Amino acid sequence: MTAVRAPRVSFDVSDPRLLADPFPTYEQLRRTGAVLSNGPGQWVVPGYREVAALLKDQRLTKTLPEQYYRFTVGDPELSGFLSGQNLGQRNRLASRVLVSSFSPGLVRRLGERMTSLVDDLLEPVLATGRMDLVADLALPFPLMVICDLLGVPAADRSLLWPHAAQLVRAFSDVAFGNDRDIDEAVRSLRWLREYLGDLVENGPAGDNLLTRMATTESDGQRLRREEIVDNAITVFYAGFETSMGMITNGMVALLEHPDQLARLRTGTAGTATAIEEMLRYEAPIQVTMRSPLEPVEVADRVIRPGRVLYLLVGSANRDPEQFDEPDRFDVGRRPNQHLSFGAGVYHCLGAALARAEGVAVFDRLLGRTRAIELDGEPVRRPRFNFRTYDQVPLAVRPA
Ligand code: HEM
Repeated sequence: MTAVRAPRVSFDVSDPRLLADPFPTYEQLRRTGAVLSNGPGQWVVPGYREVAALLKDQRLTKTLPEQYYRFTVGDPELSGFLSGQNLGQRNRLASRVLVSSFSPGLVRRLGERMTSLVDDLLEPVLATGRMDLVADLALPFPLMVICDLLGVPAADRSLLWPHAAQLVRAFSDVAFGNDRDIDEAVRSLRWLREYLGDLVENGPAGDNLLTRMATTESDGQRLRREEIVDNAITVFYAGFETSMGMITNGMVALLEHPDQLARLRTGTAGTATAIEEMLRYEAPIQVTMRSPLEPVEVADRVIRPGRVLYLLVGSANRDPEQFDEPDRFDVGRRPNQHLSFGAGVYHCLGAALARAEGVAVFDRLLGRTRAIELDGEPVRRPRFNFRTYDQVPLAVRPA
């Protein structure tokens, strides 16, 4: 019997058309097959059913084969960090301590401060009637929240974010073989390790994630300083450009759908439900990767260990097999089982925090304005993953 060849696709994440609007390509991929070959050892999975099942499948790991990072990143220091960034496989203790340090109490305390953080950022904007959503709110707000969470002094925030942004860039680029900025990313990793290492030893006491990680025990063991630091860097880079994407993608979607914006303003749809739709409609994390630890069947294929699977979360979220009229932006959509925070053991640790951030931003922004309009073309960030905008100029009329 001759084996049936898998459909081949050319999934070029540097194609400007794909970056501008990936959804027609996703539709084509879903029509082509459940698992598609994308070059040697690489498979693309575009459909909801398969992506959801694979995210939850414990036979897959987020630690991609070492040679994958060696080829894509090259630099051993950065490869070591990126391949170990899945703390579950690399270090169970690190992962358990991180999970228990993210206590509901800590998240609730931060949630209570969010409204006043957003209000402070909105003050100058309401006075001038103009804003760049990115520079004035979508970037500084999640950054403040994450610095609060970690216990980073307010004055140091602006020092940290360019380094964290550099890591995000490296992480999303190298995944696709683009080795731009590797040297910069290595420098940023060293800077963050030094800064946070110092903070672990000499930083402020009090209830924050760093102090919790330093004092939490699991099976009588505590984390070493380097593990606390790498955990902190992971939280930092996992949690601010993603939230920024939720805020910018969500706001632009609302402005492109004035009827949906009106539903929020009149209260016929609730903010929390709308946030879920923003996350589904344009997921900040469009793709996440996995590698099988043993042979795994996906649809009619067996994917062997050492291979890399690209799980297209952004495409799964628009799958008509799962969502009615998936291309319709509906702020009252229910049910809405999107996959934007992942699923299974790697489900986003910051999901509750991110949702609270979304509610605080949109409640305050809409509550304190009568009208919001685009004041120029939004500028999309030309990157496939960590999908967001670089600029969203807005004109706002205070309430
Ligand atoms: C809208 C905002 C956010 C989105 C869309 C998002 C999305 C995700 C996704 C999809 C994953 C799982 C990746 C995978 O399965 O491979 C993840 C993991 C994670 N997220 Fe989030 N996230 C957001 C905000 C946050 C925030 C605010 C924090 C922290 C304060 C955070 C911390 C983490 C951490 C620590 C992990 C685990 C990383 C790892 O094990 O490598 N996230 N997130």
